[in-house]
Amino acid sequence: MTSQPTPFVIGIDGPSGSGKSSVSRAVATQLGAGYLDTGAMYRALTWWCCHTEIDLGNAAAITRAAVELPLDIGDDPSAPTVVVDGTDVAEAIRTSEVSSLVSTVATVPEVRVEMQRRQRELIEQIAARHGSCVAEGRDVTTVIAPDAQVRILLTASEEARLRRRSLEVHGATDEAAIDATRDQVVRRDRDDSTVSQFTEAADGVSVVDTSDLDFEGSVAAVMALVDAARRR
Ligand code: DC
Repeated sequence: MTSQPTPFVIGIDGPSGSGKSSVSRAVATQLGAGYLDTGAMYRALTWWCCHTEIDLGNAAAITRAAVELPLDIGDDPSAPTVVVDGTDVAEAIRTSEVSSLVSTVATVPEVRVEMQRRQRELIEQIAARHGSCVAEGRDVTTVIAPDAQVRILLTASEEARLRRRSLEVHGATDEAAIDATRDQVVRRDRDDSTVSQFTEAADGVSVVDTSDLDFEGSVAAVMALVDAARRR
């Protein structure tokens, strides 16, 4: 009997604006790995709750929506698709409305149990399909895949994260644009960190601080950790 190669999982967590998504996608592309954006799943659920007019003050109703969510998420890092009940929501889940509501949904404990179950299942399927999977989020390295071969916390100073997100959302980094971005970075991270630990690295998790790194430098720093793990 031939033994199957062990699927290789790379978990990358970090706060908003750390560069997590773009770096994770680039690393997955370089490795020929599949990709899972766990944050996109919480965003898709938030979009679905708004679309089906679920009261976001009703935790039981949000939990039911999480269990029933008809989600189809793609694993191609160069074109990640997010489809809910046949509707392509890849753009809709990035609107300011969803960004400002997503923490309300993601901080319901029962919702997290269901999403984490789905995320473990997806990581297993994606890694089996591609040989490896890069999964990014807030609790991948600690809760979803604590046995991943590579576990990284991607961080950056609050100033660097505000600047990046402001440029991304408003196309500017003047004071007004930074202030308008603050809710989506600082307030959201504060809310999210009540249910996941992503401000400090857990045991065995490597920290990559991207404050003074450009995009290529951030990708290279993550790739160096992946290469080291592959040599072990
Ligand atoms: O990374 P992002 O901004 O797309 O994440 C969207 C939201 O989902 C964010 O408010 C935190 C939450 N999230 C989470 O609680 N756990 C994860 N594994 C991923 C995201």
